[in-house]
Amino acid sequence: MDVLLEVSFCPKQALSRTRRLADAYLAKQRGIYPELQVQQVDLEVARLPDIGLLAAVAKSKTIGGVELTPEEQVVWTEIGGIATRFMSADEVVLVAPMWNFSLPYKLKHYLDVVAQPGIAFRYGEQGAEGLGRGRPLTLVTTRGGVIGDSPYNHQTPLLKTLAGFLDFDYREIVAEGLDAEGPERGEAILREVITRLS
Ligand SMILES: Cc1cc2nc3c(=O)[nH]c(=O)nc-3n(C[C@H](O)[C@H](O)[C@H](O)COP(=O)(O)O)c2cc1C
Repeated sequence: MDVLLEVSFCPKQALSRTRRLADAYLAKQRGIYPELQVQQVDLEVARLPDIGLLAAVAKSKTIGGVELTPEEQVVWTEIGGIATRFMSADEVVLVAPMWNFSLPYKLKHYLDVVAQPGIAFRYGEQGAEGLGRGRPLTLVTTRGGVIGDSPYNHQTPLLKTLAGFLDFDYREIVAEGLDAEGPERGEAILREVITRLS
């Protein structure tokens, strides 16, 4: 493994427990792959293109093999750069807490930017074909409650489906129940998960 792309949204920054868990995971990967190059996209500061009229039309036109207008091409080129980076990494690690049973909005926005035809998937004779070549897509997350694989979990099904569509191998590292029984118990749970990682 040469390049690991970490895409994170942890607005609590130094106070973020998800960030701590991700740092432990990165340390583990660096230990296994000493030459690993870690590239980081911080969605707190990164500016993502809107998927508005121009981008949505450009996506449909690209699927249909229709030429883009110069205006659409500008937006599509910006989107393509972000999507190509995502598709070029040997592992993509998404780092974000659970928010309202799912992913925080900025991470969903990022995924809407990268899942593009011609770059992340294509339509062939067999239908849709992901271009991820089975590379790992890893979610590192923490949750306040104990969610597991209950119907409240809208993280895992979404990312599993997307990973399957794009031909990635979905994995996840989860510390949950961090708020449910108070901060001390939460800290103990997080430490346990981090210890199990190393
Ligand atoms: C806006 C918001 C929404 C949240 N929604 C959920 C939720 O649906 N389920 C849950 O278990 N925890 C939820 N939490 C709690 C966080 O997932 C939990 O505190 C997490 O460990 C925070 O990670 P951080 O320290 O990296 O910010 C939410 C927290 C915030 C700020």
